[in-house]
Amino acid sequence: MKFLLPFFLGFCLSCPPSFAEPADPKAYLQMIYENKGGYIIPAEEIDAILKAGGHPQYGEIPYDSAAHILDDLNLSRQDVFYDLGSGVGKLTLQVYLTTAVKRSVGIELSKTRWIIAESCRKQATADDHIIHGRDLVFLNQDISSASLSEATVCFISGIAFPAPLIQSLMDRFGTLDHAVKVISVLPLPAHRQFMLIKTYNLPMSWLPEGVDVFLYQVTPTPPQPEASIKPRKRKKR
Ligand SMILES: C[S@@+](CC[C@H](N)C(=O)[O-])C[C@H]1O[C@@H](n2cnc3c(N)ncnc32)[C@H](O)[C@@H]1O
Repeated sequence: MKFLLPFFLGFCLSCPPSFAEPADPKAYLQMIYENKGGYIIPAEEIDAILKAGGHPQYGEIPYDSAAHILDDLNLSRQDVFYDLGSGVGKLTLQVYLTTAVKRSVGIELSKTRWIIAESCRKQATADDHIIHGRDLVFLNQDISSASLSEATVCFISGIAFPAPLIQSLMDRFGTLDHAVKVISVLPLPAHRQFMLIKTYNLPMSWLPEGVDVFLYQVTPTPPQPEASIKPRKRKKR
């Protein structure tokens, strides 16, 4: 039996890393989200989102449109993906299931949408698609105050996010100590740390004919040199 061990270890090391991908991720997502809704939310949730400076309007990036961008991004085990305004969590789950990211995080302020996302996360866990050491996280939080410090790739799909929210997100990306890629369905205002690297035209749930989607590279703020401290002169007595 002992002589089989090196062969077994060799076999394990030659296996590609598992990304918990179901045989057909698109069909799997369709199946677990069937009849889940998420478009209509209670009036008090709409009020809370507006009060927080966000916008409750709903729409989704279809699976194939997201797959097109994800092919270009080639996300690795070093990446942490954030969907800012993640709705019912389809994109966050797609990124988890079809890429190697260390963590896929969806942030959504509507409790109704977040509950649907959580129920699908639990379903994916029960179906053995969530692997120990790689996280799928849904947070019921306001994106304007949620921590983004770990993010390496962010999706901003708020079709109607107000300008101050977009500006504050951009400023926060700019203060990170590492480079970030930002995908936005709105063209972002000029910012010295944001460079547009690609424009796509992809079908979205609200416009199947195609919507421009923008991919930006955000360069981190260079570390500031420490202020030189002048030695204090001794007073002559
Ligand atoms: C257009 S939907 C995007 C859904 C998802 N990203 C997708 O592409 O499938 C935008 C979402 O952002 C949420 N949202 C708006 N303002 C928010 C805020 N301040 N914090 C968290 N979520 C917010 C809305 O409730 C809505 O579900």
